[in-house]
Amino acid sequence: MPNEIKNFELPKLPYAKNALAPHISENTINFHYGKHHQAYVTNLNNLITGTDFAGKSLEEIIKISAADKTKAGIFNNAAQVWNHTFYWHSMKPNGGGKPGDEILKKIETDFGSYENFVAEFKQAGATQFGSGWAWLVLDSGKLKVTKTGNAETPLTSANKPLMTMDVWEHAYYLDYQNARPTYIDTFLNHLVNWDFVAENLKQ
Ligand SMILES: [Fe+2]
Repeated sequence: MPNEIKNFELPKLPYAKNALAPHISENTINFHYGKHHQAYVTNLNNLITGTDFAGKSLEEIIKISAADKTKAGIFNNAAQVWNHTFYWHSMKPNGGGKPGDEILKKIETDFGSYENFVAEFKQAGATQFGSGWAWLVLDSGKLKVTKTGNAETPLTSANKPLMTMDVWEHAYYLDYQNARPTYIDTFLNHLVNWDFVAENLKQ
């Protein structure tokens, strides 16, 4: 079978660029999605052209490059392409607040209460030093909050990612300047896409 070279494309946003305003502005989306996410896609395509990675799926590229320190550039860009697509789907207009009964029950079982989950998620986002991500993951059937630095992603672990919040400065600086905790509160109260969490839990 010919090894067809596969160029990755910037995935479509699941909503209009102004749909998350005023919580995340169209201006932020234009830079974060239009410039940063696009740059990871472009860099990845440039880095894999003519290599053994060409033609592999994004997930395969992430897993293979994560195990090889000499492939850090490929890993960083591939993982950031994946993490950002997952992040856009982790939010929706009029999202946030408590989830529906099914997920709420699981949160109460695994964290003790919704408030405990919120406290843990806030803590993960606020204490990720520098750039990174806060995650809700499934770990051996149990919900868990984790954080990763830079481009690191739960895809390289046994944890199944359910939703994520980008805490790189480029995610919030235009709208919140240095107030990362305000961005985190807004994410939890107005943006979390619990439908996406439910879909991921079912898979
Ligand atoms: Fe980002």
